[in-house]
Amino acid sequence: MGKFQVIDHPLIQHKLTIIRDKNCGTKVFREVVDEIAMLMAFEVSRDMPLEDVEIETPIGKSVQKTLSGKKVAIVPILRAGLGMVDGILELIPAAKVGHIGMYRDHETLKPVEYFVKLPSDIATRQLFVVDPMLATGGSAIMAIDALKERGASNMKFVCLVAAPEGVKALQEAHPDVDIYVAALDEKLNEDGYIVPGLGDAGDRLFGTK
Ligand code: PRP
Ligand code: URA
Repeated sequence: MGKFQVIDHPLIQHKLTIIRDKNCGTKVFREVVDEIAMLMAFEVSRDMPLEDVEIETPIGKSVQKTLSGKKVAIVPILRAGLGMVDGILELIPAAKVGHIGMYRDHETLKPVEYFVKLPSDIATRQLFVVDPMLATGGSAIMAIDALKERGASNMKFVCLVAAPEGVKALQEAHPDVDIYVAALDEKLNEDGYIVPGLGDAGDRLFGTK
């Protein structure tokens, strides 16, 4: 089974409270999602491999550490995952970005795939699949299926708010994928929304409804 981690740093909990508030407007919502994604990236990237490199400081020669190994790609699940990309790029500016378009049918709650565009070397990269919400888990499972079909094998799923039902479904479908969340909420309601959650993340990010 992959790792499951709640990244509950006080700064993250504080910022999450700001965006959970229904009175938080689009501008602040977007800014704070970005900030939380950046803070999460710090922890999600903790096991990135390092290698030695010889450099010369103003004082003399020295062997120091530099990142090595697999390069990173960030894969947001559209639309709402887009809100997390820039924050992660602040920390990992060399990452490539792939896109997977997926929406949840409001009647069936089943995800529908509508767009996939990925870096050509996806199979050799460490992927951070990002989406603010993990509800039933359907969208994340289908997105990771789509990535595996295209050769990806090394993936971490990063979300802001998860329901226990979604975590369980994703772990069962993709036990090789590590899951990082900022908060594990109580449950799903009868409409498939996370309780207490933050509502419809895509609508709140982009001001649609
Ligand atoms: C939301 C969210 C996830 C999905 C989670 O997207 O961003 O992708 O729902 O639900 P699930 O775990 O039950 O699949 P939505 O379908 O609202 O699309 P949007 O981002 O384009 O608004
Ligand atoms: N998608 C959202 O945007 N919010 C939820 O609570 C569940 C699915």
